[in-house]
Amino acid sequence: MKVLVVGSGGRDHAIAWKFAQSPRVKKVYVAHGNAGISQTAECVNAKTIEEMADFAEKKGIDLAFVGPEKPLSAGIVDLFRGKNIPIVGPDKKASRLESSKCDTKVLLRELGIPVPEFAVFDDPDKARDYVRSVGYQVVVKADGLAAGKGSLVCDTVEDAEEAIHLIMEKRIFGDSGNRVDIEKRLYGRELSFFCFTDGYTIVPMVAAQDYKRARDNDEGKNTGGMGSYSPHPWLTDELSEKIMTRVARPLIKGIRENKGILYQGVIYLGLMLVEENGDITPYVLEINIRLGDPEAQVILPRMKTDIVDVCEAILEGRLKGVSLEWDPDYRLCLIAVSGRCRGKKGWYKGYPDRYRIGVPIEGLESVDPECLVFHSGTGFDESGRLITTGGRVFGIVTRGRTLAEAREKAYREMKKVHFEGMYYRGDIGLE
Ligand code: GLY
Repeated sequence: MKVLVVGSGGRDHAIAWKFAQSPRVKKVYVAHGNAGISQTAECVNAKTIEEMADFAEKKGIDLAFVGPEKPLSAGIVDLFRGKNIPIVGPDKKASRLESSKCDTKVLLRELGIPVPEFAVFDDPDKARDYVRSVGYQVVVKADGLAAGKGSLVCDTVEDAEEAIHLIMEKRIFGDSGNRVDIEKRLYGRELSFFCFTDGYTIVPMVAAQDYKRARDNDEGKNTGGMGSYSPHPWLTDELSEKIMTRVARPLIKGIRENKGILYQGVIYLGLMLVEENGDITPYVLEINIRLGDPEAQVILPRMKTDIVDVCEAILEGRLKGVSLEWDPDYRLCLIAVSGRCRGKKGWYKGYPDRYRIGVPIEGLESVDPECLVFHSGTGFDESGRLITTGGRVFGIVTRGRTLAEAREKAYREMKKVHFEGMYYRGDIGLE
């Protein structure tokens, strides 16, 4: 079987690696990939969804799987289906669940799924009046896609006014800031919960802990994710069943029956678990239509089931008959990013602010081959040297019987690698 994975980051490297493990897969192509992915799969220079569909048609691709939200929101699934190329992922209509935070919150409320108190605005003055009137702390969210950085958590009314200004007037996320969703800030434990679904049956994966802030102790700016580990320390079977009953199943059924959306692929529920009256309520903060990055890097290595079997079951609507098997050992992913560094034009603050690229990376070949290295932003220069091309550069994934063992290995192996300005958090997996 020939598989095409769409994507070019660390999550997409992990997906390509997982397909390459399948005895049913002869060849994995990735569009458009990166230097690390080119060690696992053949990278294809197709950047638009039309180029990807042309490539898939010409190569006779048997199965495509989409990593990131952008091609999904642009309609890659509809395009491939129109050409009869099997592809796993939600179609353009279903992708609105991630590409409009505002419409999704309204839909969830209609379906009786727990969401924080919220209001939607397309007028910044009305939004400001609202945050002055509510009397509680809020989170201001850009409606559209913003590379995981569109939620601004506010401590004060002034912070909220500034967030409205940045999103709606300064347009830091472009047209994604046409509208905002302003939510009551909840306190509890955040959890990323992932499922596979064929539109009728929805099956949970194992959960992962993500670290979104740039600095230790969850300080600094929001990033795409600085590290992750799995299993999650406090997701019990009982809690998982509660999330399935209160959120996951009503969502998939509700969008199918009320909106005519048959959602097929991966769904990512961004939850806040809040203790209320001696019980836990799973509030939905956001829905994403894809695997998380860097959560996929620790979830997929734990998945023992062949991903091709799961994809076929999704496409044929028979996920009910599939039971997923997971390795109980821990996996931990430590991400190295392009940090503070001097360049030709002075100092770069480093990811998630402005960072330097084109910096040679040394020592990756010394990393213990028992570890997995998934690349996020790497390329080759004209002389074939491995260089940085992004903010997040690569992640080392380790395995351990305990979280402490996986953590110790990751920090030991990371010390073998170097590039100018390299930075990683010191507290990933330190619970
Ligand atoms: N790690 C968060 C995300 O993928 O959105």
